[in-house]
Amino acid sequence: MPVPTIEWHRGGVKIIDQSKLPKKLTYLYCTDATSIWQAIRKLQVRGAPAIGVAVAFGVVLGIKGSTTKNYRDFEKDLNEVIDYLATARPTAINLFWALERMKHVANVNRDEGIPELKRILLNEAQKILEEDKEVCRKIGENGQALVENGDTILTHCNAGALATVDYGTALGIIYRAREEGKKVSVYVDESRPLLQGARLTTWELMREGIDVTLICDGMVGRVMEEGRISKVLVGADRVAANGDCANKIGTYNLAILAHAHHMPFYIACPTSSFDLTLARGNEIPIEERDGDEVTTLYGRRIAPEGVKVYNPAFDVTPAHLITAIITEVGIARPLYKESLKAQVTNPKFQ
Ligand code: MRU
Repeated sequence: MPVPTIEWHRGGVKIIDQSKLPKKLTYLYCTDATSIWQAIRKLQVRGAPAIGVAVAFGVVLGIKGSTTKNYRDFEKDLNEVIDYLATARPTAINLFWALERMKHVANVNRDEGIPELKRILLNEAQKILEEDKEVCRKIGENGQALVENGDTILTHCNAGALATVDYGTALGIIYRAREEGKKVSVYVDESRPLLQGARLTTWELMREGIDVTLICDGMVGRVMEEGRISKVLVGADRVAANGDCANKIGTYNLAILAHAHHMPFYIACPTSSFDLTLARGNEIPIEERDGDEVTTLYGRRIAPEGVKVYNPAFDVTPAHLITAIITEVGIARPLYKESLKAQVTNPKFQ
């Protein structure tokens, strides 16, 4: 199985530095909230579930040095750390979900005394990490039912072990299908500008011994038209109440192409990626990143100096293009307004 992307190690957070892959497998060691913030912002740790885990430990590290004696002062320090970490990246709801969870746990245990409260917060971050492992395996178990022996699955960006603690959402389904004895091949597009598909998904799948073929983003239509793909399976950063899903830029293109070629388009994500407070996907905040990511490739300029650039990091796939949303609870199908709500209130996986 893949090596853990993120772990609590000797009072700090040990994280695979994904910006260095596939050239080398190196680790970052974060001992304060600032280094966690930077690791998230620079995509050294990335993928919605992994961001949620990292930010929870970021809270632990951020309040570690608080010398306050009463809860009211401690809460001030805690809120400051939480507000700061909330600015790391805007789209993946898991970041805000984890911060809310940490805030809630502190509040519920406000009478415990500060040293005990710090211990409780560390325990909660560790719980979020452990739960991610369990949730991903459940997603794999539920989703493998949709995979047939001999399928060739197109995926985008990286929704694998690297985007979670150790198993993945979309790729977790592929791992589980293989464990069930099904033969599965994968196509992955590069996922420009930051090439998570080319750099990370190929690396991860090759290490796992899964047959993987890399294509450029613009080749998807041709590859589908040639009949090389049987279904599309990707992750999500935030799911609105009507089933619209934000995911890595380029996902929407794939959904339209899948629809045009009459093939299923599946989203795999934990219910912690649901944001049922948003009615529709157009309310999801979309991160816009530095233009340098588009004008350069591995630090080398590829576009003329002075060219105008637009660099949205995510897009929103409308619910009507999504065949099903696979979570740890089960498989949600349209109408998502009802099926997503039912998943959150369903105690089956509590
Ligand atoms: O910018 P990134 O690399 O953090 O974007 C990641 C994605 O879009 C993933 O598909 C998504 O977070 C799901 S990960 C299980």
